[in-house]
Amino acid sequence: MGGIRIAIFVYVIHCTFTAEAVILDSEPAVDGGLVRTKLNHTVSLSCSAPSAGQELQWFRNGLQVALQEGNRVQHSRLCVQPVSREDNGATFLCQHKDNAALNGSVQLEVTYAPELWGTEELSLEEDSDMTLSCDSRANPPVTMVWQRDGQVLDLLEGRYTTMDDGVTARLSVSRVKRHLHQGLYSCLAHSPVEGQRTKSFRLTITDKIRRFPRDPMIAGIVVVVCTTVLALLSRWDRIFKCCK
Ligand SMILES: *[C@@H]1O[C@H](CO)[C@@H](O)[C@H](O)[C@H]1NC(C)=O
Ligand SMILES: *[C@@H]1O[C@H](CO)[C@@H](O)[C@H](O)[C@H]1NC(C)=O
Repeated sequence: MGGIRIAIFVYVIHCTFTAEAVILDSEPAVDGGLVRTKLNHTVSLSCSAPSAGQELQWFRNGLQVALQEGNRVQHSRLCVQPVSREDNGATFLCQHKDNAALNGSVQLEVTYAPELWGTEELSLEEDSDMTLSCDSRANPPVTMVWQRDGQVLDLLEGRYTTMDDGVTARLSVSRVKRHLHQGLYSCLAHSPVEGQRTKSFRLTITDKIRRFPRDPMIAGIVVVVCTTVLALLSRWDRIFKCCK
């Protein structure tokens, strides 16, 4: 007798609970409110209303997502494809159109490594400035390592400076010298999810080309032309005076 009463009680609670919520599902599966995915992958979200005929809405970071006809009533699907870096941390919320309290949400966690590959050929004249740039966008963040000819760079010895703002990592040196700076440079990042990534730069330093100092030359020509004209003018003046 008591067992039946408890069973009915549990059944009522269960019904009340399911009738009062939207059911949000995801592929890949939700884990503690998070959907973990990788760059360019696809996340497929689906949402079901508590009862038949009820309309649903989706929000991405609080902004309503435009849904196609036939994808709103009782059941609604949302596809994030391809997943981008901007989707990292984005919250997707499905909500009952007439009752905002009936909602469910998930947050995307997108992992990605810096886009590093290949070898760039570079030629610089001696005494010019060098800057090498590597993509450093990554989740989780990475530490960029710079190498020259397979050895970790001695920043002090080569007068190098580095900077990394989480978007681009740069290696710079002003007034390059062949004996110090020529070689094969690489930026390396180790991503815990994607492994090692690297990009190389083959730097050749050429002799300094002697150029005519153009600006002083132009100034010189201007001076010569002006003085000639002035000289002529003053002489014309005298010639005219003579003739009068
Ligand atoms: C993601 O897709 C873009 C555009 O198609 C491509 O350039 C990039 O290499 C891809 N990245 C990864 C990690 O698959
Ligand atoms: C989602 O529902 C909860 C209660 O279930 C409510 O507190 C919250 O404000 C709702 N969120 C939005 C964005 O309406």
